[in-house]
Amino acid sequence: MGGEVKVSRRETVFKEISPSEFFYRNRDLAGFSNPSRALYSATRELVENALDACEAAYILPDIFVRITSADLDGTLPDPKPYLLKVQDNGPGIEPKYVPDAFARIFFGSKFQLKQSRGMFGMGATMAILYGQVTTNKPVSVTTSVDGEKAYSFEMMVNIRDNTPLVLNKSVKPALGKTGISVQLTLEGDYSRAGSKIQEYFKQTALVTPYANILFIDPNGRLFFYERVTEKMPKPAKETLPHPLGIDLEALRRLLRESKESNLKKFLSKNFHRVGDRIAEDFLRYAGLDPDAKPQDLTNDEIIRFGSALHSYDGFLPPDSGCLSPLGEELLAAGIEKELQPEFITVVQRPPSAYSGFPFIVEIGLAYGGKNVEPGVKLLRFANRIPLLYDEANDVSWKVVNEEIDWKRYKIPQDAP
Ligand SMILES: Nc1ncnc2c1ncn2[C@@H]1O[C@H](COP(=O)(O)OP(=O)(O)O)[C@@H](O)[C@H]1O
Ligand SMILES: [Mg+2]
Repeated sequence: MGGEVKVSRRETVFKEISPSEFFYRNRDLAGFSNPSRALYSATRELVENALDACEAAYILPDIFVRITSADLDGTLPDPKPYLLKVQDNGPGIEPKYVPDAFARIFFGSKFQLKQSRGMFGMGATMAILYGQVTTNKPVSVTTSVDGEKAYSFEMMVNIRDNTPLVLNKSVKPALGKTGISVQLTLEGDYSRAGSKIQEYFKQTALVTPYANILFIDPNGRLFFYERVTEKMPKPAKETLPHPLGIDLEALRRLLRESKESNLKKFLSKNFHRVGDRIAEDFLRYAGLDPDAKPQDLTNDEIIRFGSALHSYDGFLPPDSGCLSPLGEELLAAGIEKELQPEFITVVQRPPSAYSGFPFIVEIGLAYGGKNVEPGVKLLRFANRIPLLYDEANDVSWKVVNEEIDWKRYKIPQDAP
């Protein structure tokens, strides 16, 4: 009898989790790792949505942000619950989309090939989800698209299913104002996050000189970044995919869903900067029949098609219409207004492309001025989002701090 180990046979249990459940368990992946970082990320996500919406609709942004401590007298120590409110004067969204846009991860309007700050339909929902799991309070979202009626929703995220749970809905007059207002409660740590949040607004203002941004912090301090120009960058236009940015999965889907009767038309209708002449030349190169039906290609032909897309060198480079660069004039205006330096120079480089995706590099250099600390300071932005973390891993940090010998330009090392 002794020595025998009995292992009862148990069946392995399988289950599936929803995107909300995944991000609930892995909040740090989306920038919500602790109360300090979360307060910063939530503010950022909502402000970036507001700016995206205004810019896409070519509306001069007026953005109001307020963070207040949720305990009435504000005496609890950090970390503690805060109320975060972000309001914009953008186009708003149709009320029927509000629950999914704000309480469902991966639901959004920016899954297109054009520049914007948001991309995956998760920023606002992450902020709301984080608020809910740390305070158990619903979010309140108000939208008006016509300035006549404003629709308000109180919602929570049903995390298990990644579906919105609407607790309350109401309508009131919008008093001529369009746009969206979001208010949520979340656990935060303003004593730690405050300086990052203020730096975020300062740098955001530098690249959005056409926006009014008013921020009121939990101590009642008011930060106003005033519009200095009514010019805005041209909104980005949606574009077709460039042949160099296409992988086999994308190609297969395009072929399957194609309504075109032959490969030549398929190419010229679905790809960026491909016309009849290039389509014909490419198909000859790839050894594919221009009259073949796109839906009928065999697996081997799809593979041949895909690899030829990457080896053929006759495609035109992508144009930059899907980008919305700030431009030299606005960049200089932003630097002037935020830093008031003695000297500014700005450059917009010509568009380039990487794997079929166009990009434009814009650079400003400023020297001296008011309220600046001594030493070299590097400000980095991607899609007009300030990048406040991990700067020393950036190649531009190495160039500015290690490669350039500022003394050769008669600039002392600790000059502002
Ligand atoms: N302030 C706003 N104005 C207009 N639309 C908004 C605003 N905030 C969010 N949205 C809509 O909600 C969607 C989801 O937002 P979000 O979860 O932040 O994802 P993303 O910004 O990556 O698309 C957006 O794609 C947009 O359509
Ligand atoms: Mg977003």
